[in-house]
Amino acid sequence: MADHLNLVPFVSVHHMMQLVLEIGVERFMDELTAYLEEDFRRWEKFDKTPRVASHSREGVIELMPTSDGRHYGFKYVNGHPKNTREGRQTVTAFGVFADVGNGYPLLISEMTILTALRTAATSALAAKYLAPRGADCMALIGNGAQAEFQAMAFKALLGIRKLRLYDIDRGATEKCRRNLAGLGFEMTACASGEDAVEGAQIITTATADKQYATILTDNMVGAGVHINAVGGDCPGKTELHRDILLRSDIFVEYPPQTRIEGEIQQLDKDHPVEELWRLVAGKAIGRCEARQITLFDSVGFATEDFSALRYVRDKIEQTGLYTELDLLADPDEPRDLFGMLLRFPGSSLLAQREKGLIL
Ligand SMILES: NC(=O)c1ccc[n+]([C@@H]2O[C@H](COP(=O)([O-])OP(=O)(O)OC[C@H]3O[C@@H](n4cnc5c(N)ncnc54)[C@H](O)[C@@H]3O)[C@@H](O)[C@H]2O)c1
Repeated sequence: MADHLNLVPFVSVHHMMQLVLEIGVERFMDELTAYLEEDFRRWEKFDKTPRVASHSREGVIELMPTSDGRHYGFKYVNGHPKNTREGRQTVTAFGVFADVGNGYPLLISEMTILTALRTAATSALAAKYLAPRGADCMALIGNGAQAEFQAMAFKALLGIRKLRLYDIDRGATEKCRRNLAGLGFEMTACASGEDAVEGAQIITTATADKQYATILTDNMVGAGVHINAVGGDCPGKTELHRDILLRSDIFVEYPPQTRIEGEIQQLDKDHPVEELWRLVAGKAIGRCEARQITLFDSVGFATEDFSALRYVRDKIEQTGLYTELDLLADPDEPRDLFGMLLRFPGSSLLAQREKGLIL
């Protein structure tokens, strides 16, 4: 890629959209899932830590680092549920992928779109192991920015074609229905959460509220259902009534982070949970009974962003869909950083020195 050490490949929002459309959303989900699976299978190789979160009254800003010993990745991401009222996204993100050998970044990328794609791909990956066999109908509660991506991933990986949509804001449901029209879904706009879960074998919740919310009450969840809970991802921000958790077999990404941020923050610290990577690595089994209620308590983990950045890096090498950022200072002689500043064309420091103005 970049011939000059100062230049770092940069994937803008524009290029990310071109990349996704050139590959195709469903193929992108499929290929990204293969990268996620590959990295989940070598889970033990990764440095893992709960993400570093800075909370405020309005939202949260988080850093999500990880490394497999060869590459290092991190994502900057925010979560501000009130943002949409001001014309901003609830979640925005960007990330860096770097070479552990020399510490130099290999890629800097937008990750707002990429986060929606990787979150949906991870949800669908979990559902491959946990959803009831032959599931064809999903309730999608919360029809904001993540919603269509969830629908597309579940179509690509599980063949879900029936969607029951609900949002407290009817405009959001209408937007979702409009965007997904003609993409192979049979959609029903529902008047309530209770209505949405009717006949659905999979329930996805992707709402945004900075509080303990009860999007699903216990009576809304029947035997045999798989719940994909995406929106509860911060201390004090959950979507499910605690009683549902007590009836479910719970699957999580990284327990030390999920116990702080996920639905299971409502449970005792030692409540049993199973880890997603163990399903993928064949070390644990997912759904084993038709009447079992399974819950993927998704919060989003750093290795998923690492996998997504790794995938994008491979893809831009093939497509050329990136620009180069002059990001790293690169003096001719590595230790002559000040000399590079001094010799910068038009340097006032040099001019002053030549005129003897520096005493
Ligand atoms: N688990 C993960 O990896 C992950 C990744 C990205 C985002 N998220 C979370 O997913 C959630 C959705 O993100 P987004 O970007 O789509 O947000 P968004 O603000 O674009 O959409 C959220 C939608 O939820 C609706 N909503 C709020 N309260 C509701 C309720 N009580 N019932 C029904 N609908 C309700 C809102 O009207 C809005 O349309 C957020 O909480 C975000 O933090 C999780």
